[in-house]
Amino acid sequence: MSAATETVQEAITQASASGGLGALWTALIGVVVIAALYEYWRRSSREYRMTKNIPSPPEVPVLGNAHLVLGCSNAEVVAKGNTYLEKYGETLRATLGHVLIVFLTNPNDIEIILSSNNHLNKSEEYRYFKPWFGDGLLISSGNHWRHHRKMIAPTFHQSILKSFVPTFVQHSKNVVERMAKELGKEFDIHDYMSQTTVEILLSTAMGVKKIPEGNKSFEYAKAVVDMCDIIHKRQVKVMYRLDAIYNMTKMRQKGDKMMDIILGMTKRVVMERKANYSAEGNGIVEEVDETAKKAAAKKVGGLRDDLDDIDENDVGAKRRLALLDAMVDMAKNPEIEWSEKDIMDEVNTIMFEGHDTTSAGSSFALCMMGMHKDVQEKVFAEQKAIFGDNLMRDCTFNDTMEMKYLERVIMETLRMYPPVPLIARRVDSDVKLASGPYVVPKGTTVVVLQYRVHRRPDIYANPDKFDPDNFLPERMANRHYYSFIPFSAGPRSCVGRKYAMLKLKVLLSTIIRNYTIHCNETEADWKLQADIILKLENGFNVVLQKRQPVVA
Ligand code: HEM
Repeated sequence: MSAATETVQEAITQASASGGLGALWTALIGVVVIAALYEYWRRSSREYRMTKNIPSPPEVPVLGNAHLVLGCSNAEVVAKGNTYLEKYGETLRATLGHVLIVFLTNPNDIEIILSSNNHLNKSEEYRYFKPWFGDGLLISSGNHWRHHRKMIAPTFHQSILKSFVPTFVQHSKNVVERMAKELGKEFDIHDYMSQTTVEILLSTAMGVKKIPEGNKSFEYAKAVVDMCDIIHKRQVKVMYRLDAIYNMTKMRQKGDKMMDIILGMTKRVVMERKANYSAEGNGIVEEVDETAKKAAAKKVGGLRDDLDDIDENDVGAKRRLALLDAMVDMAKNPEIEWSEKDIMDEVNTIMFEGHDTTSAGSSFALCMMGMHKDVQEKVFAEQKAIFGDNLMRDCTFNDTMEMKYLERVIMETLRMYPPVPLIARRVDSDVKLASGPYVVPKGTTVVVLQYRVHRRPDIYANPDKFDPDNFLPERMANRHYYSFIPFSAGPRSCVGRKYAMLKLKVLLSTIIRNYTIHCNETEADWKLQADIILKLENGFNVVLQKRQPVVA
């Protein structure tokens, strides 16, 4: 007889001697009865019954499919998710206990959800952002969201973005200079991109004149990454969803520390800007730019959003303010409903959305160019054609309009590695899907999987091949509008998408004119991390070599 068996027998003998065995059995039976009742309730819910015909991996009682991701690392969750979608098809149902989720990868289904003015509310999973973003644009709903969207979208007007270009250039030159110490060595370029994208946001949308000293921006960016990791764990691990359990964990303590760093930084930013705000001095008077208007007007109808309308339908000269100045202005205006809390919520939301996404996007693009030297050479050739003999001169807004190939490289990177790999909505009414005889009941969480849509072989002939020509106008014209959605689409699309594309062009153009990039890894070596923002578990490792004397 083994020692373990003896111990169990001893425990039973002791328990029966003390009369504890009966209590043990009672507790055990109680647990089984509660589990059985829960399982009955779970399976007889309207949502569960209505979605029964949607393909799903095998379930176990009580947990549903939660056991499939128990103990998995982020990278393993991504790998498993992809395997199930390949096995069960384009539309998939999963349950985490009683939480029901329907995953969508068919552009027709996605259009039904994203283009609608009904399913605008974010799913329950976004609630873990609440202590951070409050009622900021990303997670708010109803009239509050509508009011904020209407007031904030114009702060990303083209005339404002154009005024940001010299600042984008200066920060791009700074990071080129900072990276000079890494020449010839392999290093994680994401660290540099994080710090730069935080500093760019501070100096542009937030109007900060003096960037925080030392490593403060990097410390903020790191705290954001750690906080996202905690929020993501709460979203996918059933037990951490319960506040009572989460509050007892070490993770909670770490989360509190991260929030102190994050909110400390944003509070300082707002205080500084308010102190230096001058209504007269901060505005941009819009110049009418017919070239840009014509280019925007060509945009395919189905993907138009409020940002296009704002850029194209303006008449006459207007004084415009960048984001934080505009909010400080609104808070002073008794006719506009805008509180101090509204300012903080939006600063926190945009500082997050605006930096981590573009640092991942730029890091992926640099790695892809480091792997695909032919593409890198074409990007450089385009830069030479634009800048001529003066390769080191500062890039202008008009230069960025000429960077057609670089734009295709950025779009192809966002296709293969969308920084926001999925988004989730709670449907506000029963929705009939186009991909099969499926109806998603009101209140269900639907998850739009951009990462998977972008890799559909029926849409992109060779989906795992990095081919910027996928974004040649003639190829784009033949594709479904909702088959390329890195910025989401419809009324709740990314409010910073034009800002992001412009910043990425300036940043990548400056880096590529200074350095050649090498990446010794292949995509097969990469482990994708399914955090809130898509990243690489082992970092974005590249080697830089000097192309020209580093910018003066
Ligand atoms: C490559 C860069 C970027 C990508 C891929 C990206 C992607 C996205 C996506 C997919 C959404 C929808 C999220 C959802 O529904 O859950 C979103 C929303 C949003 N993004 Fe971006 N984004 C980027 C850059 C930016 C920048 C630079 C800013 C601001 C400076 C920004 C601000 C926002 C805001 C405020 C929202 C919420 C909009 C709303 O709900 O009305 N994003 N973004």
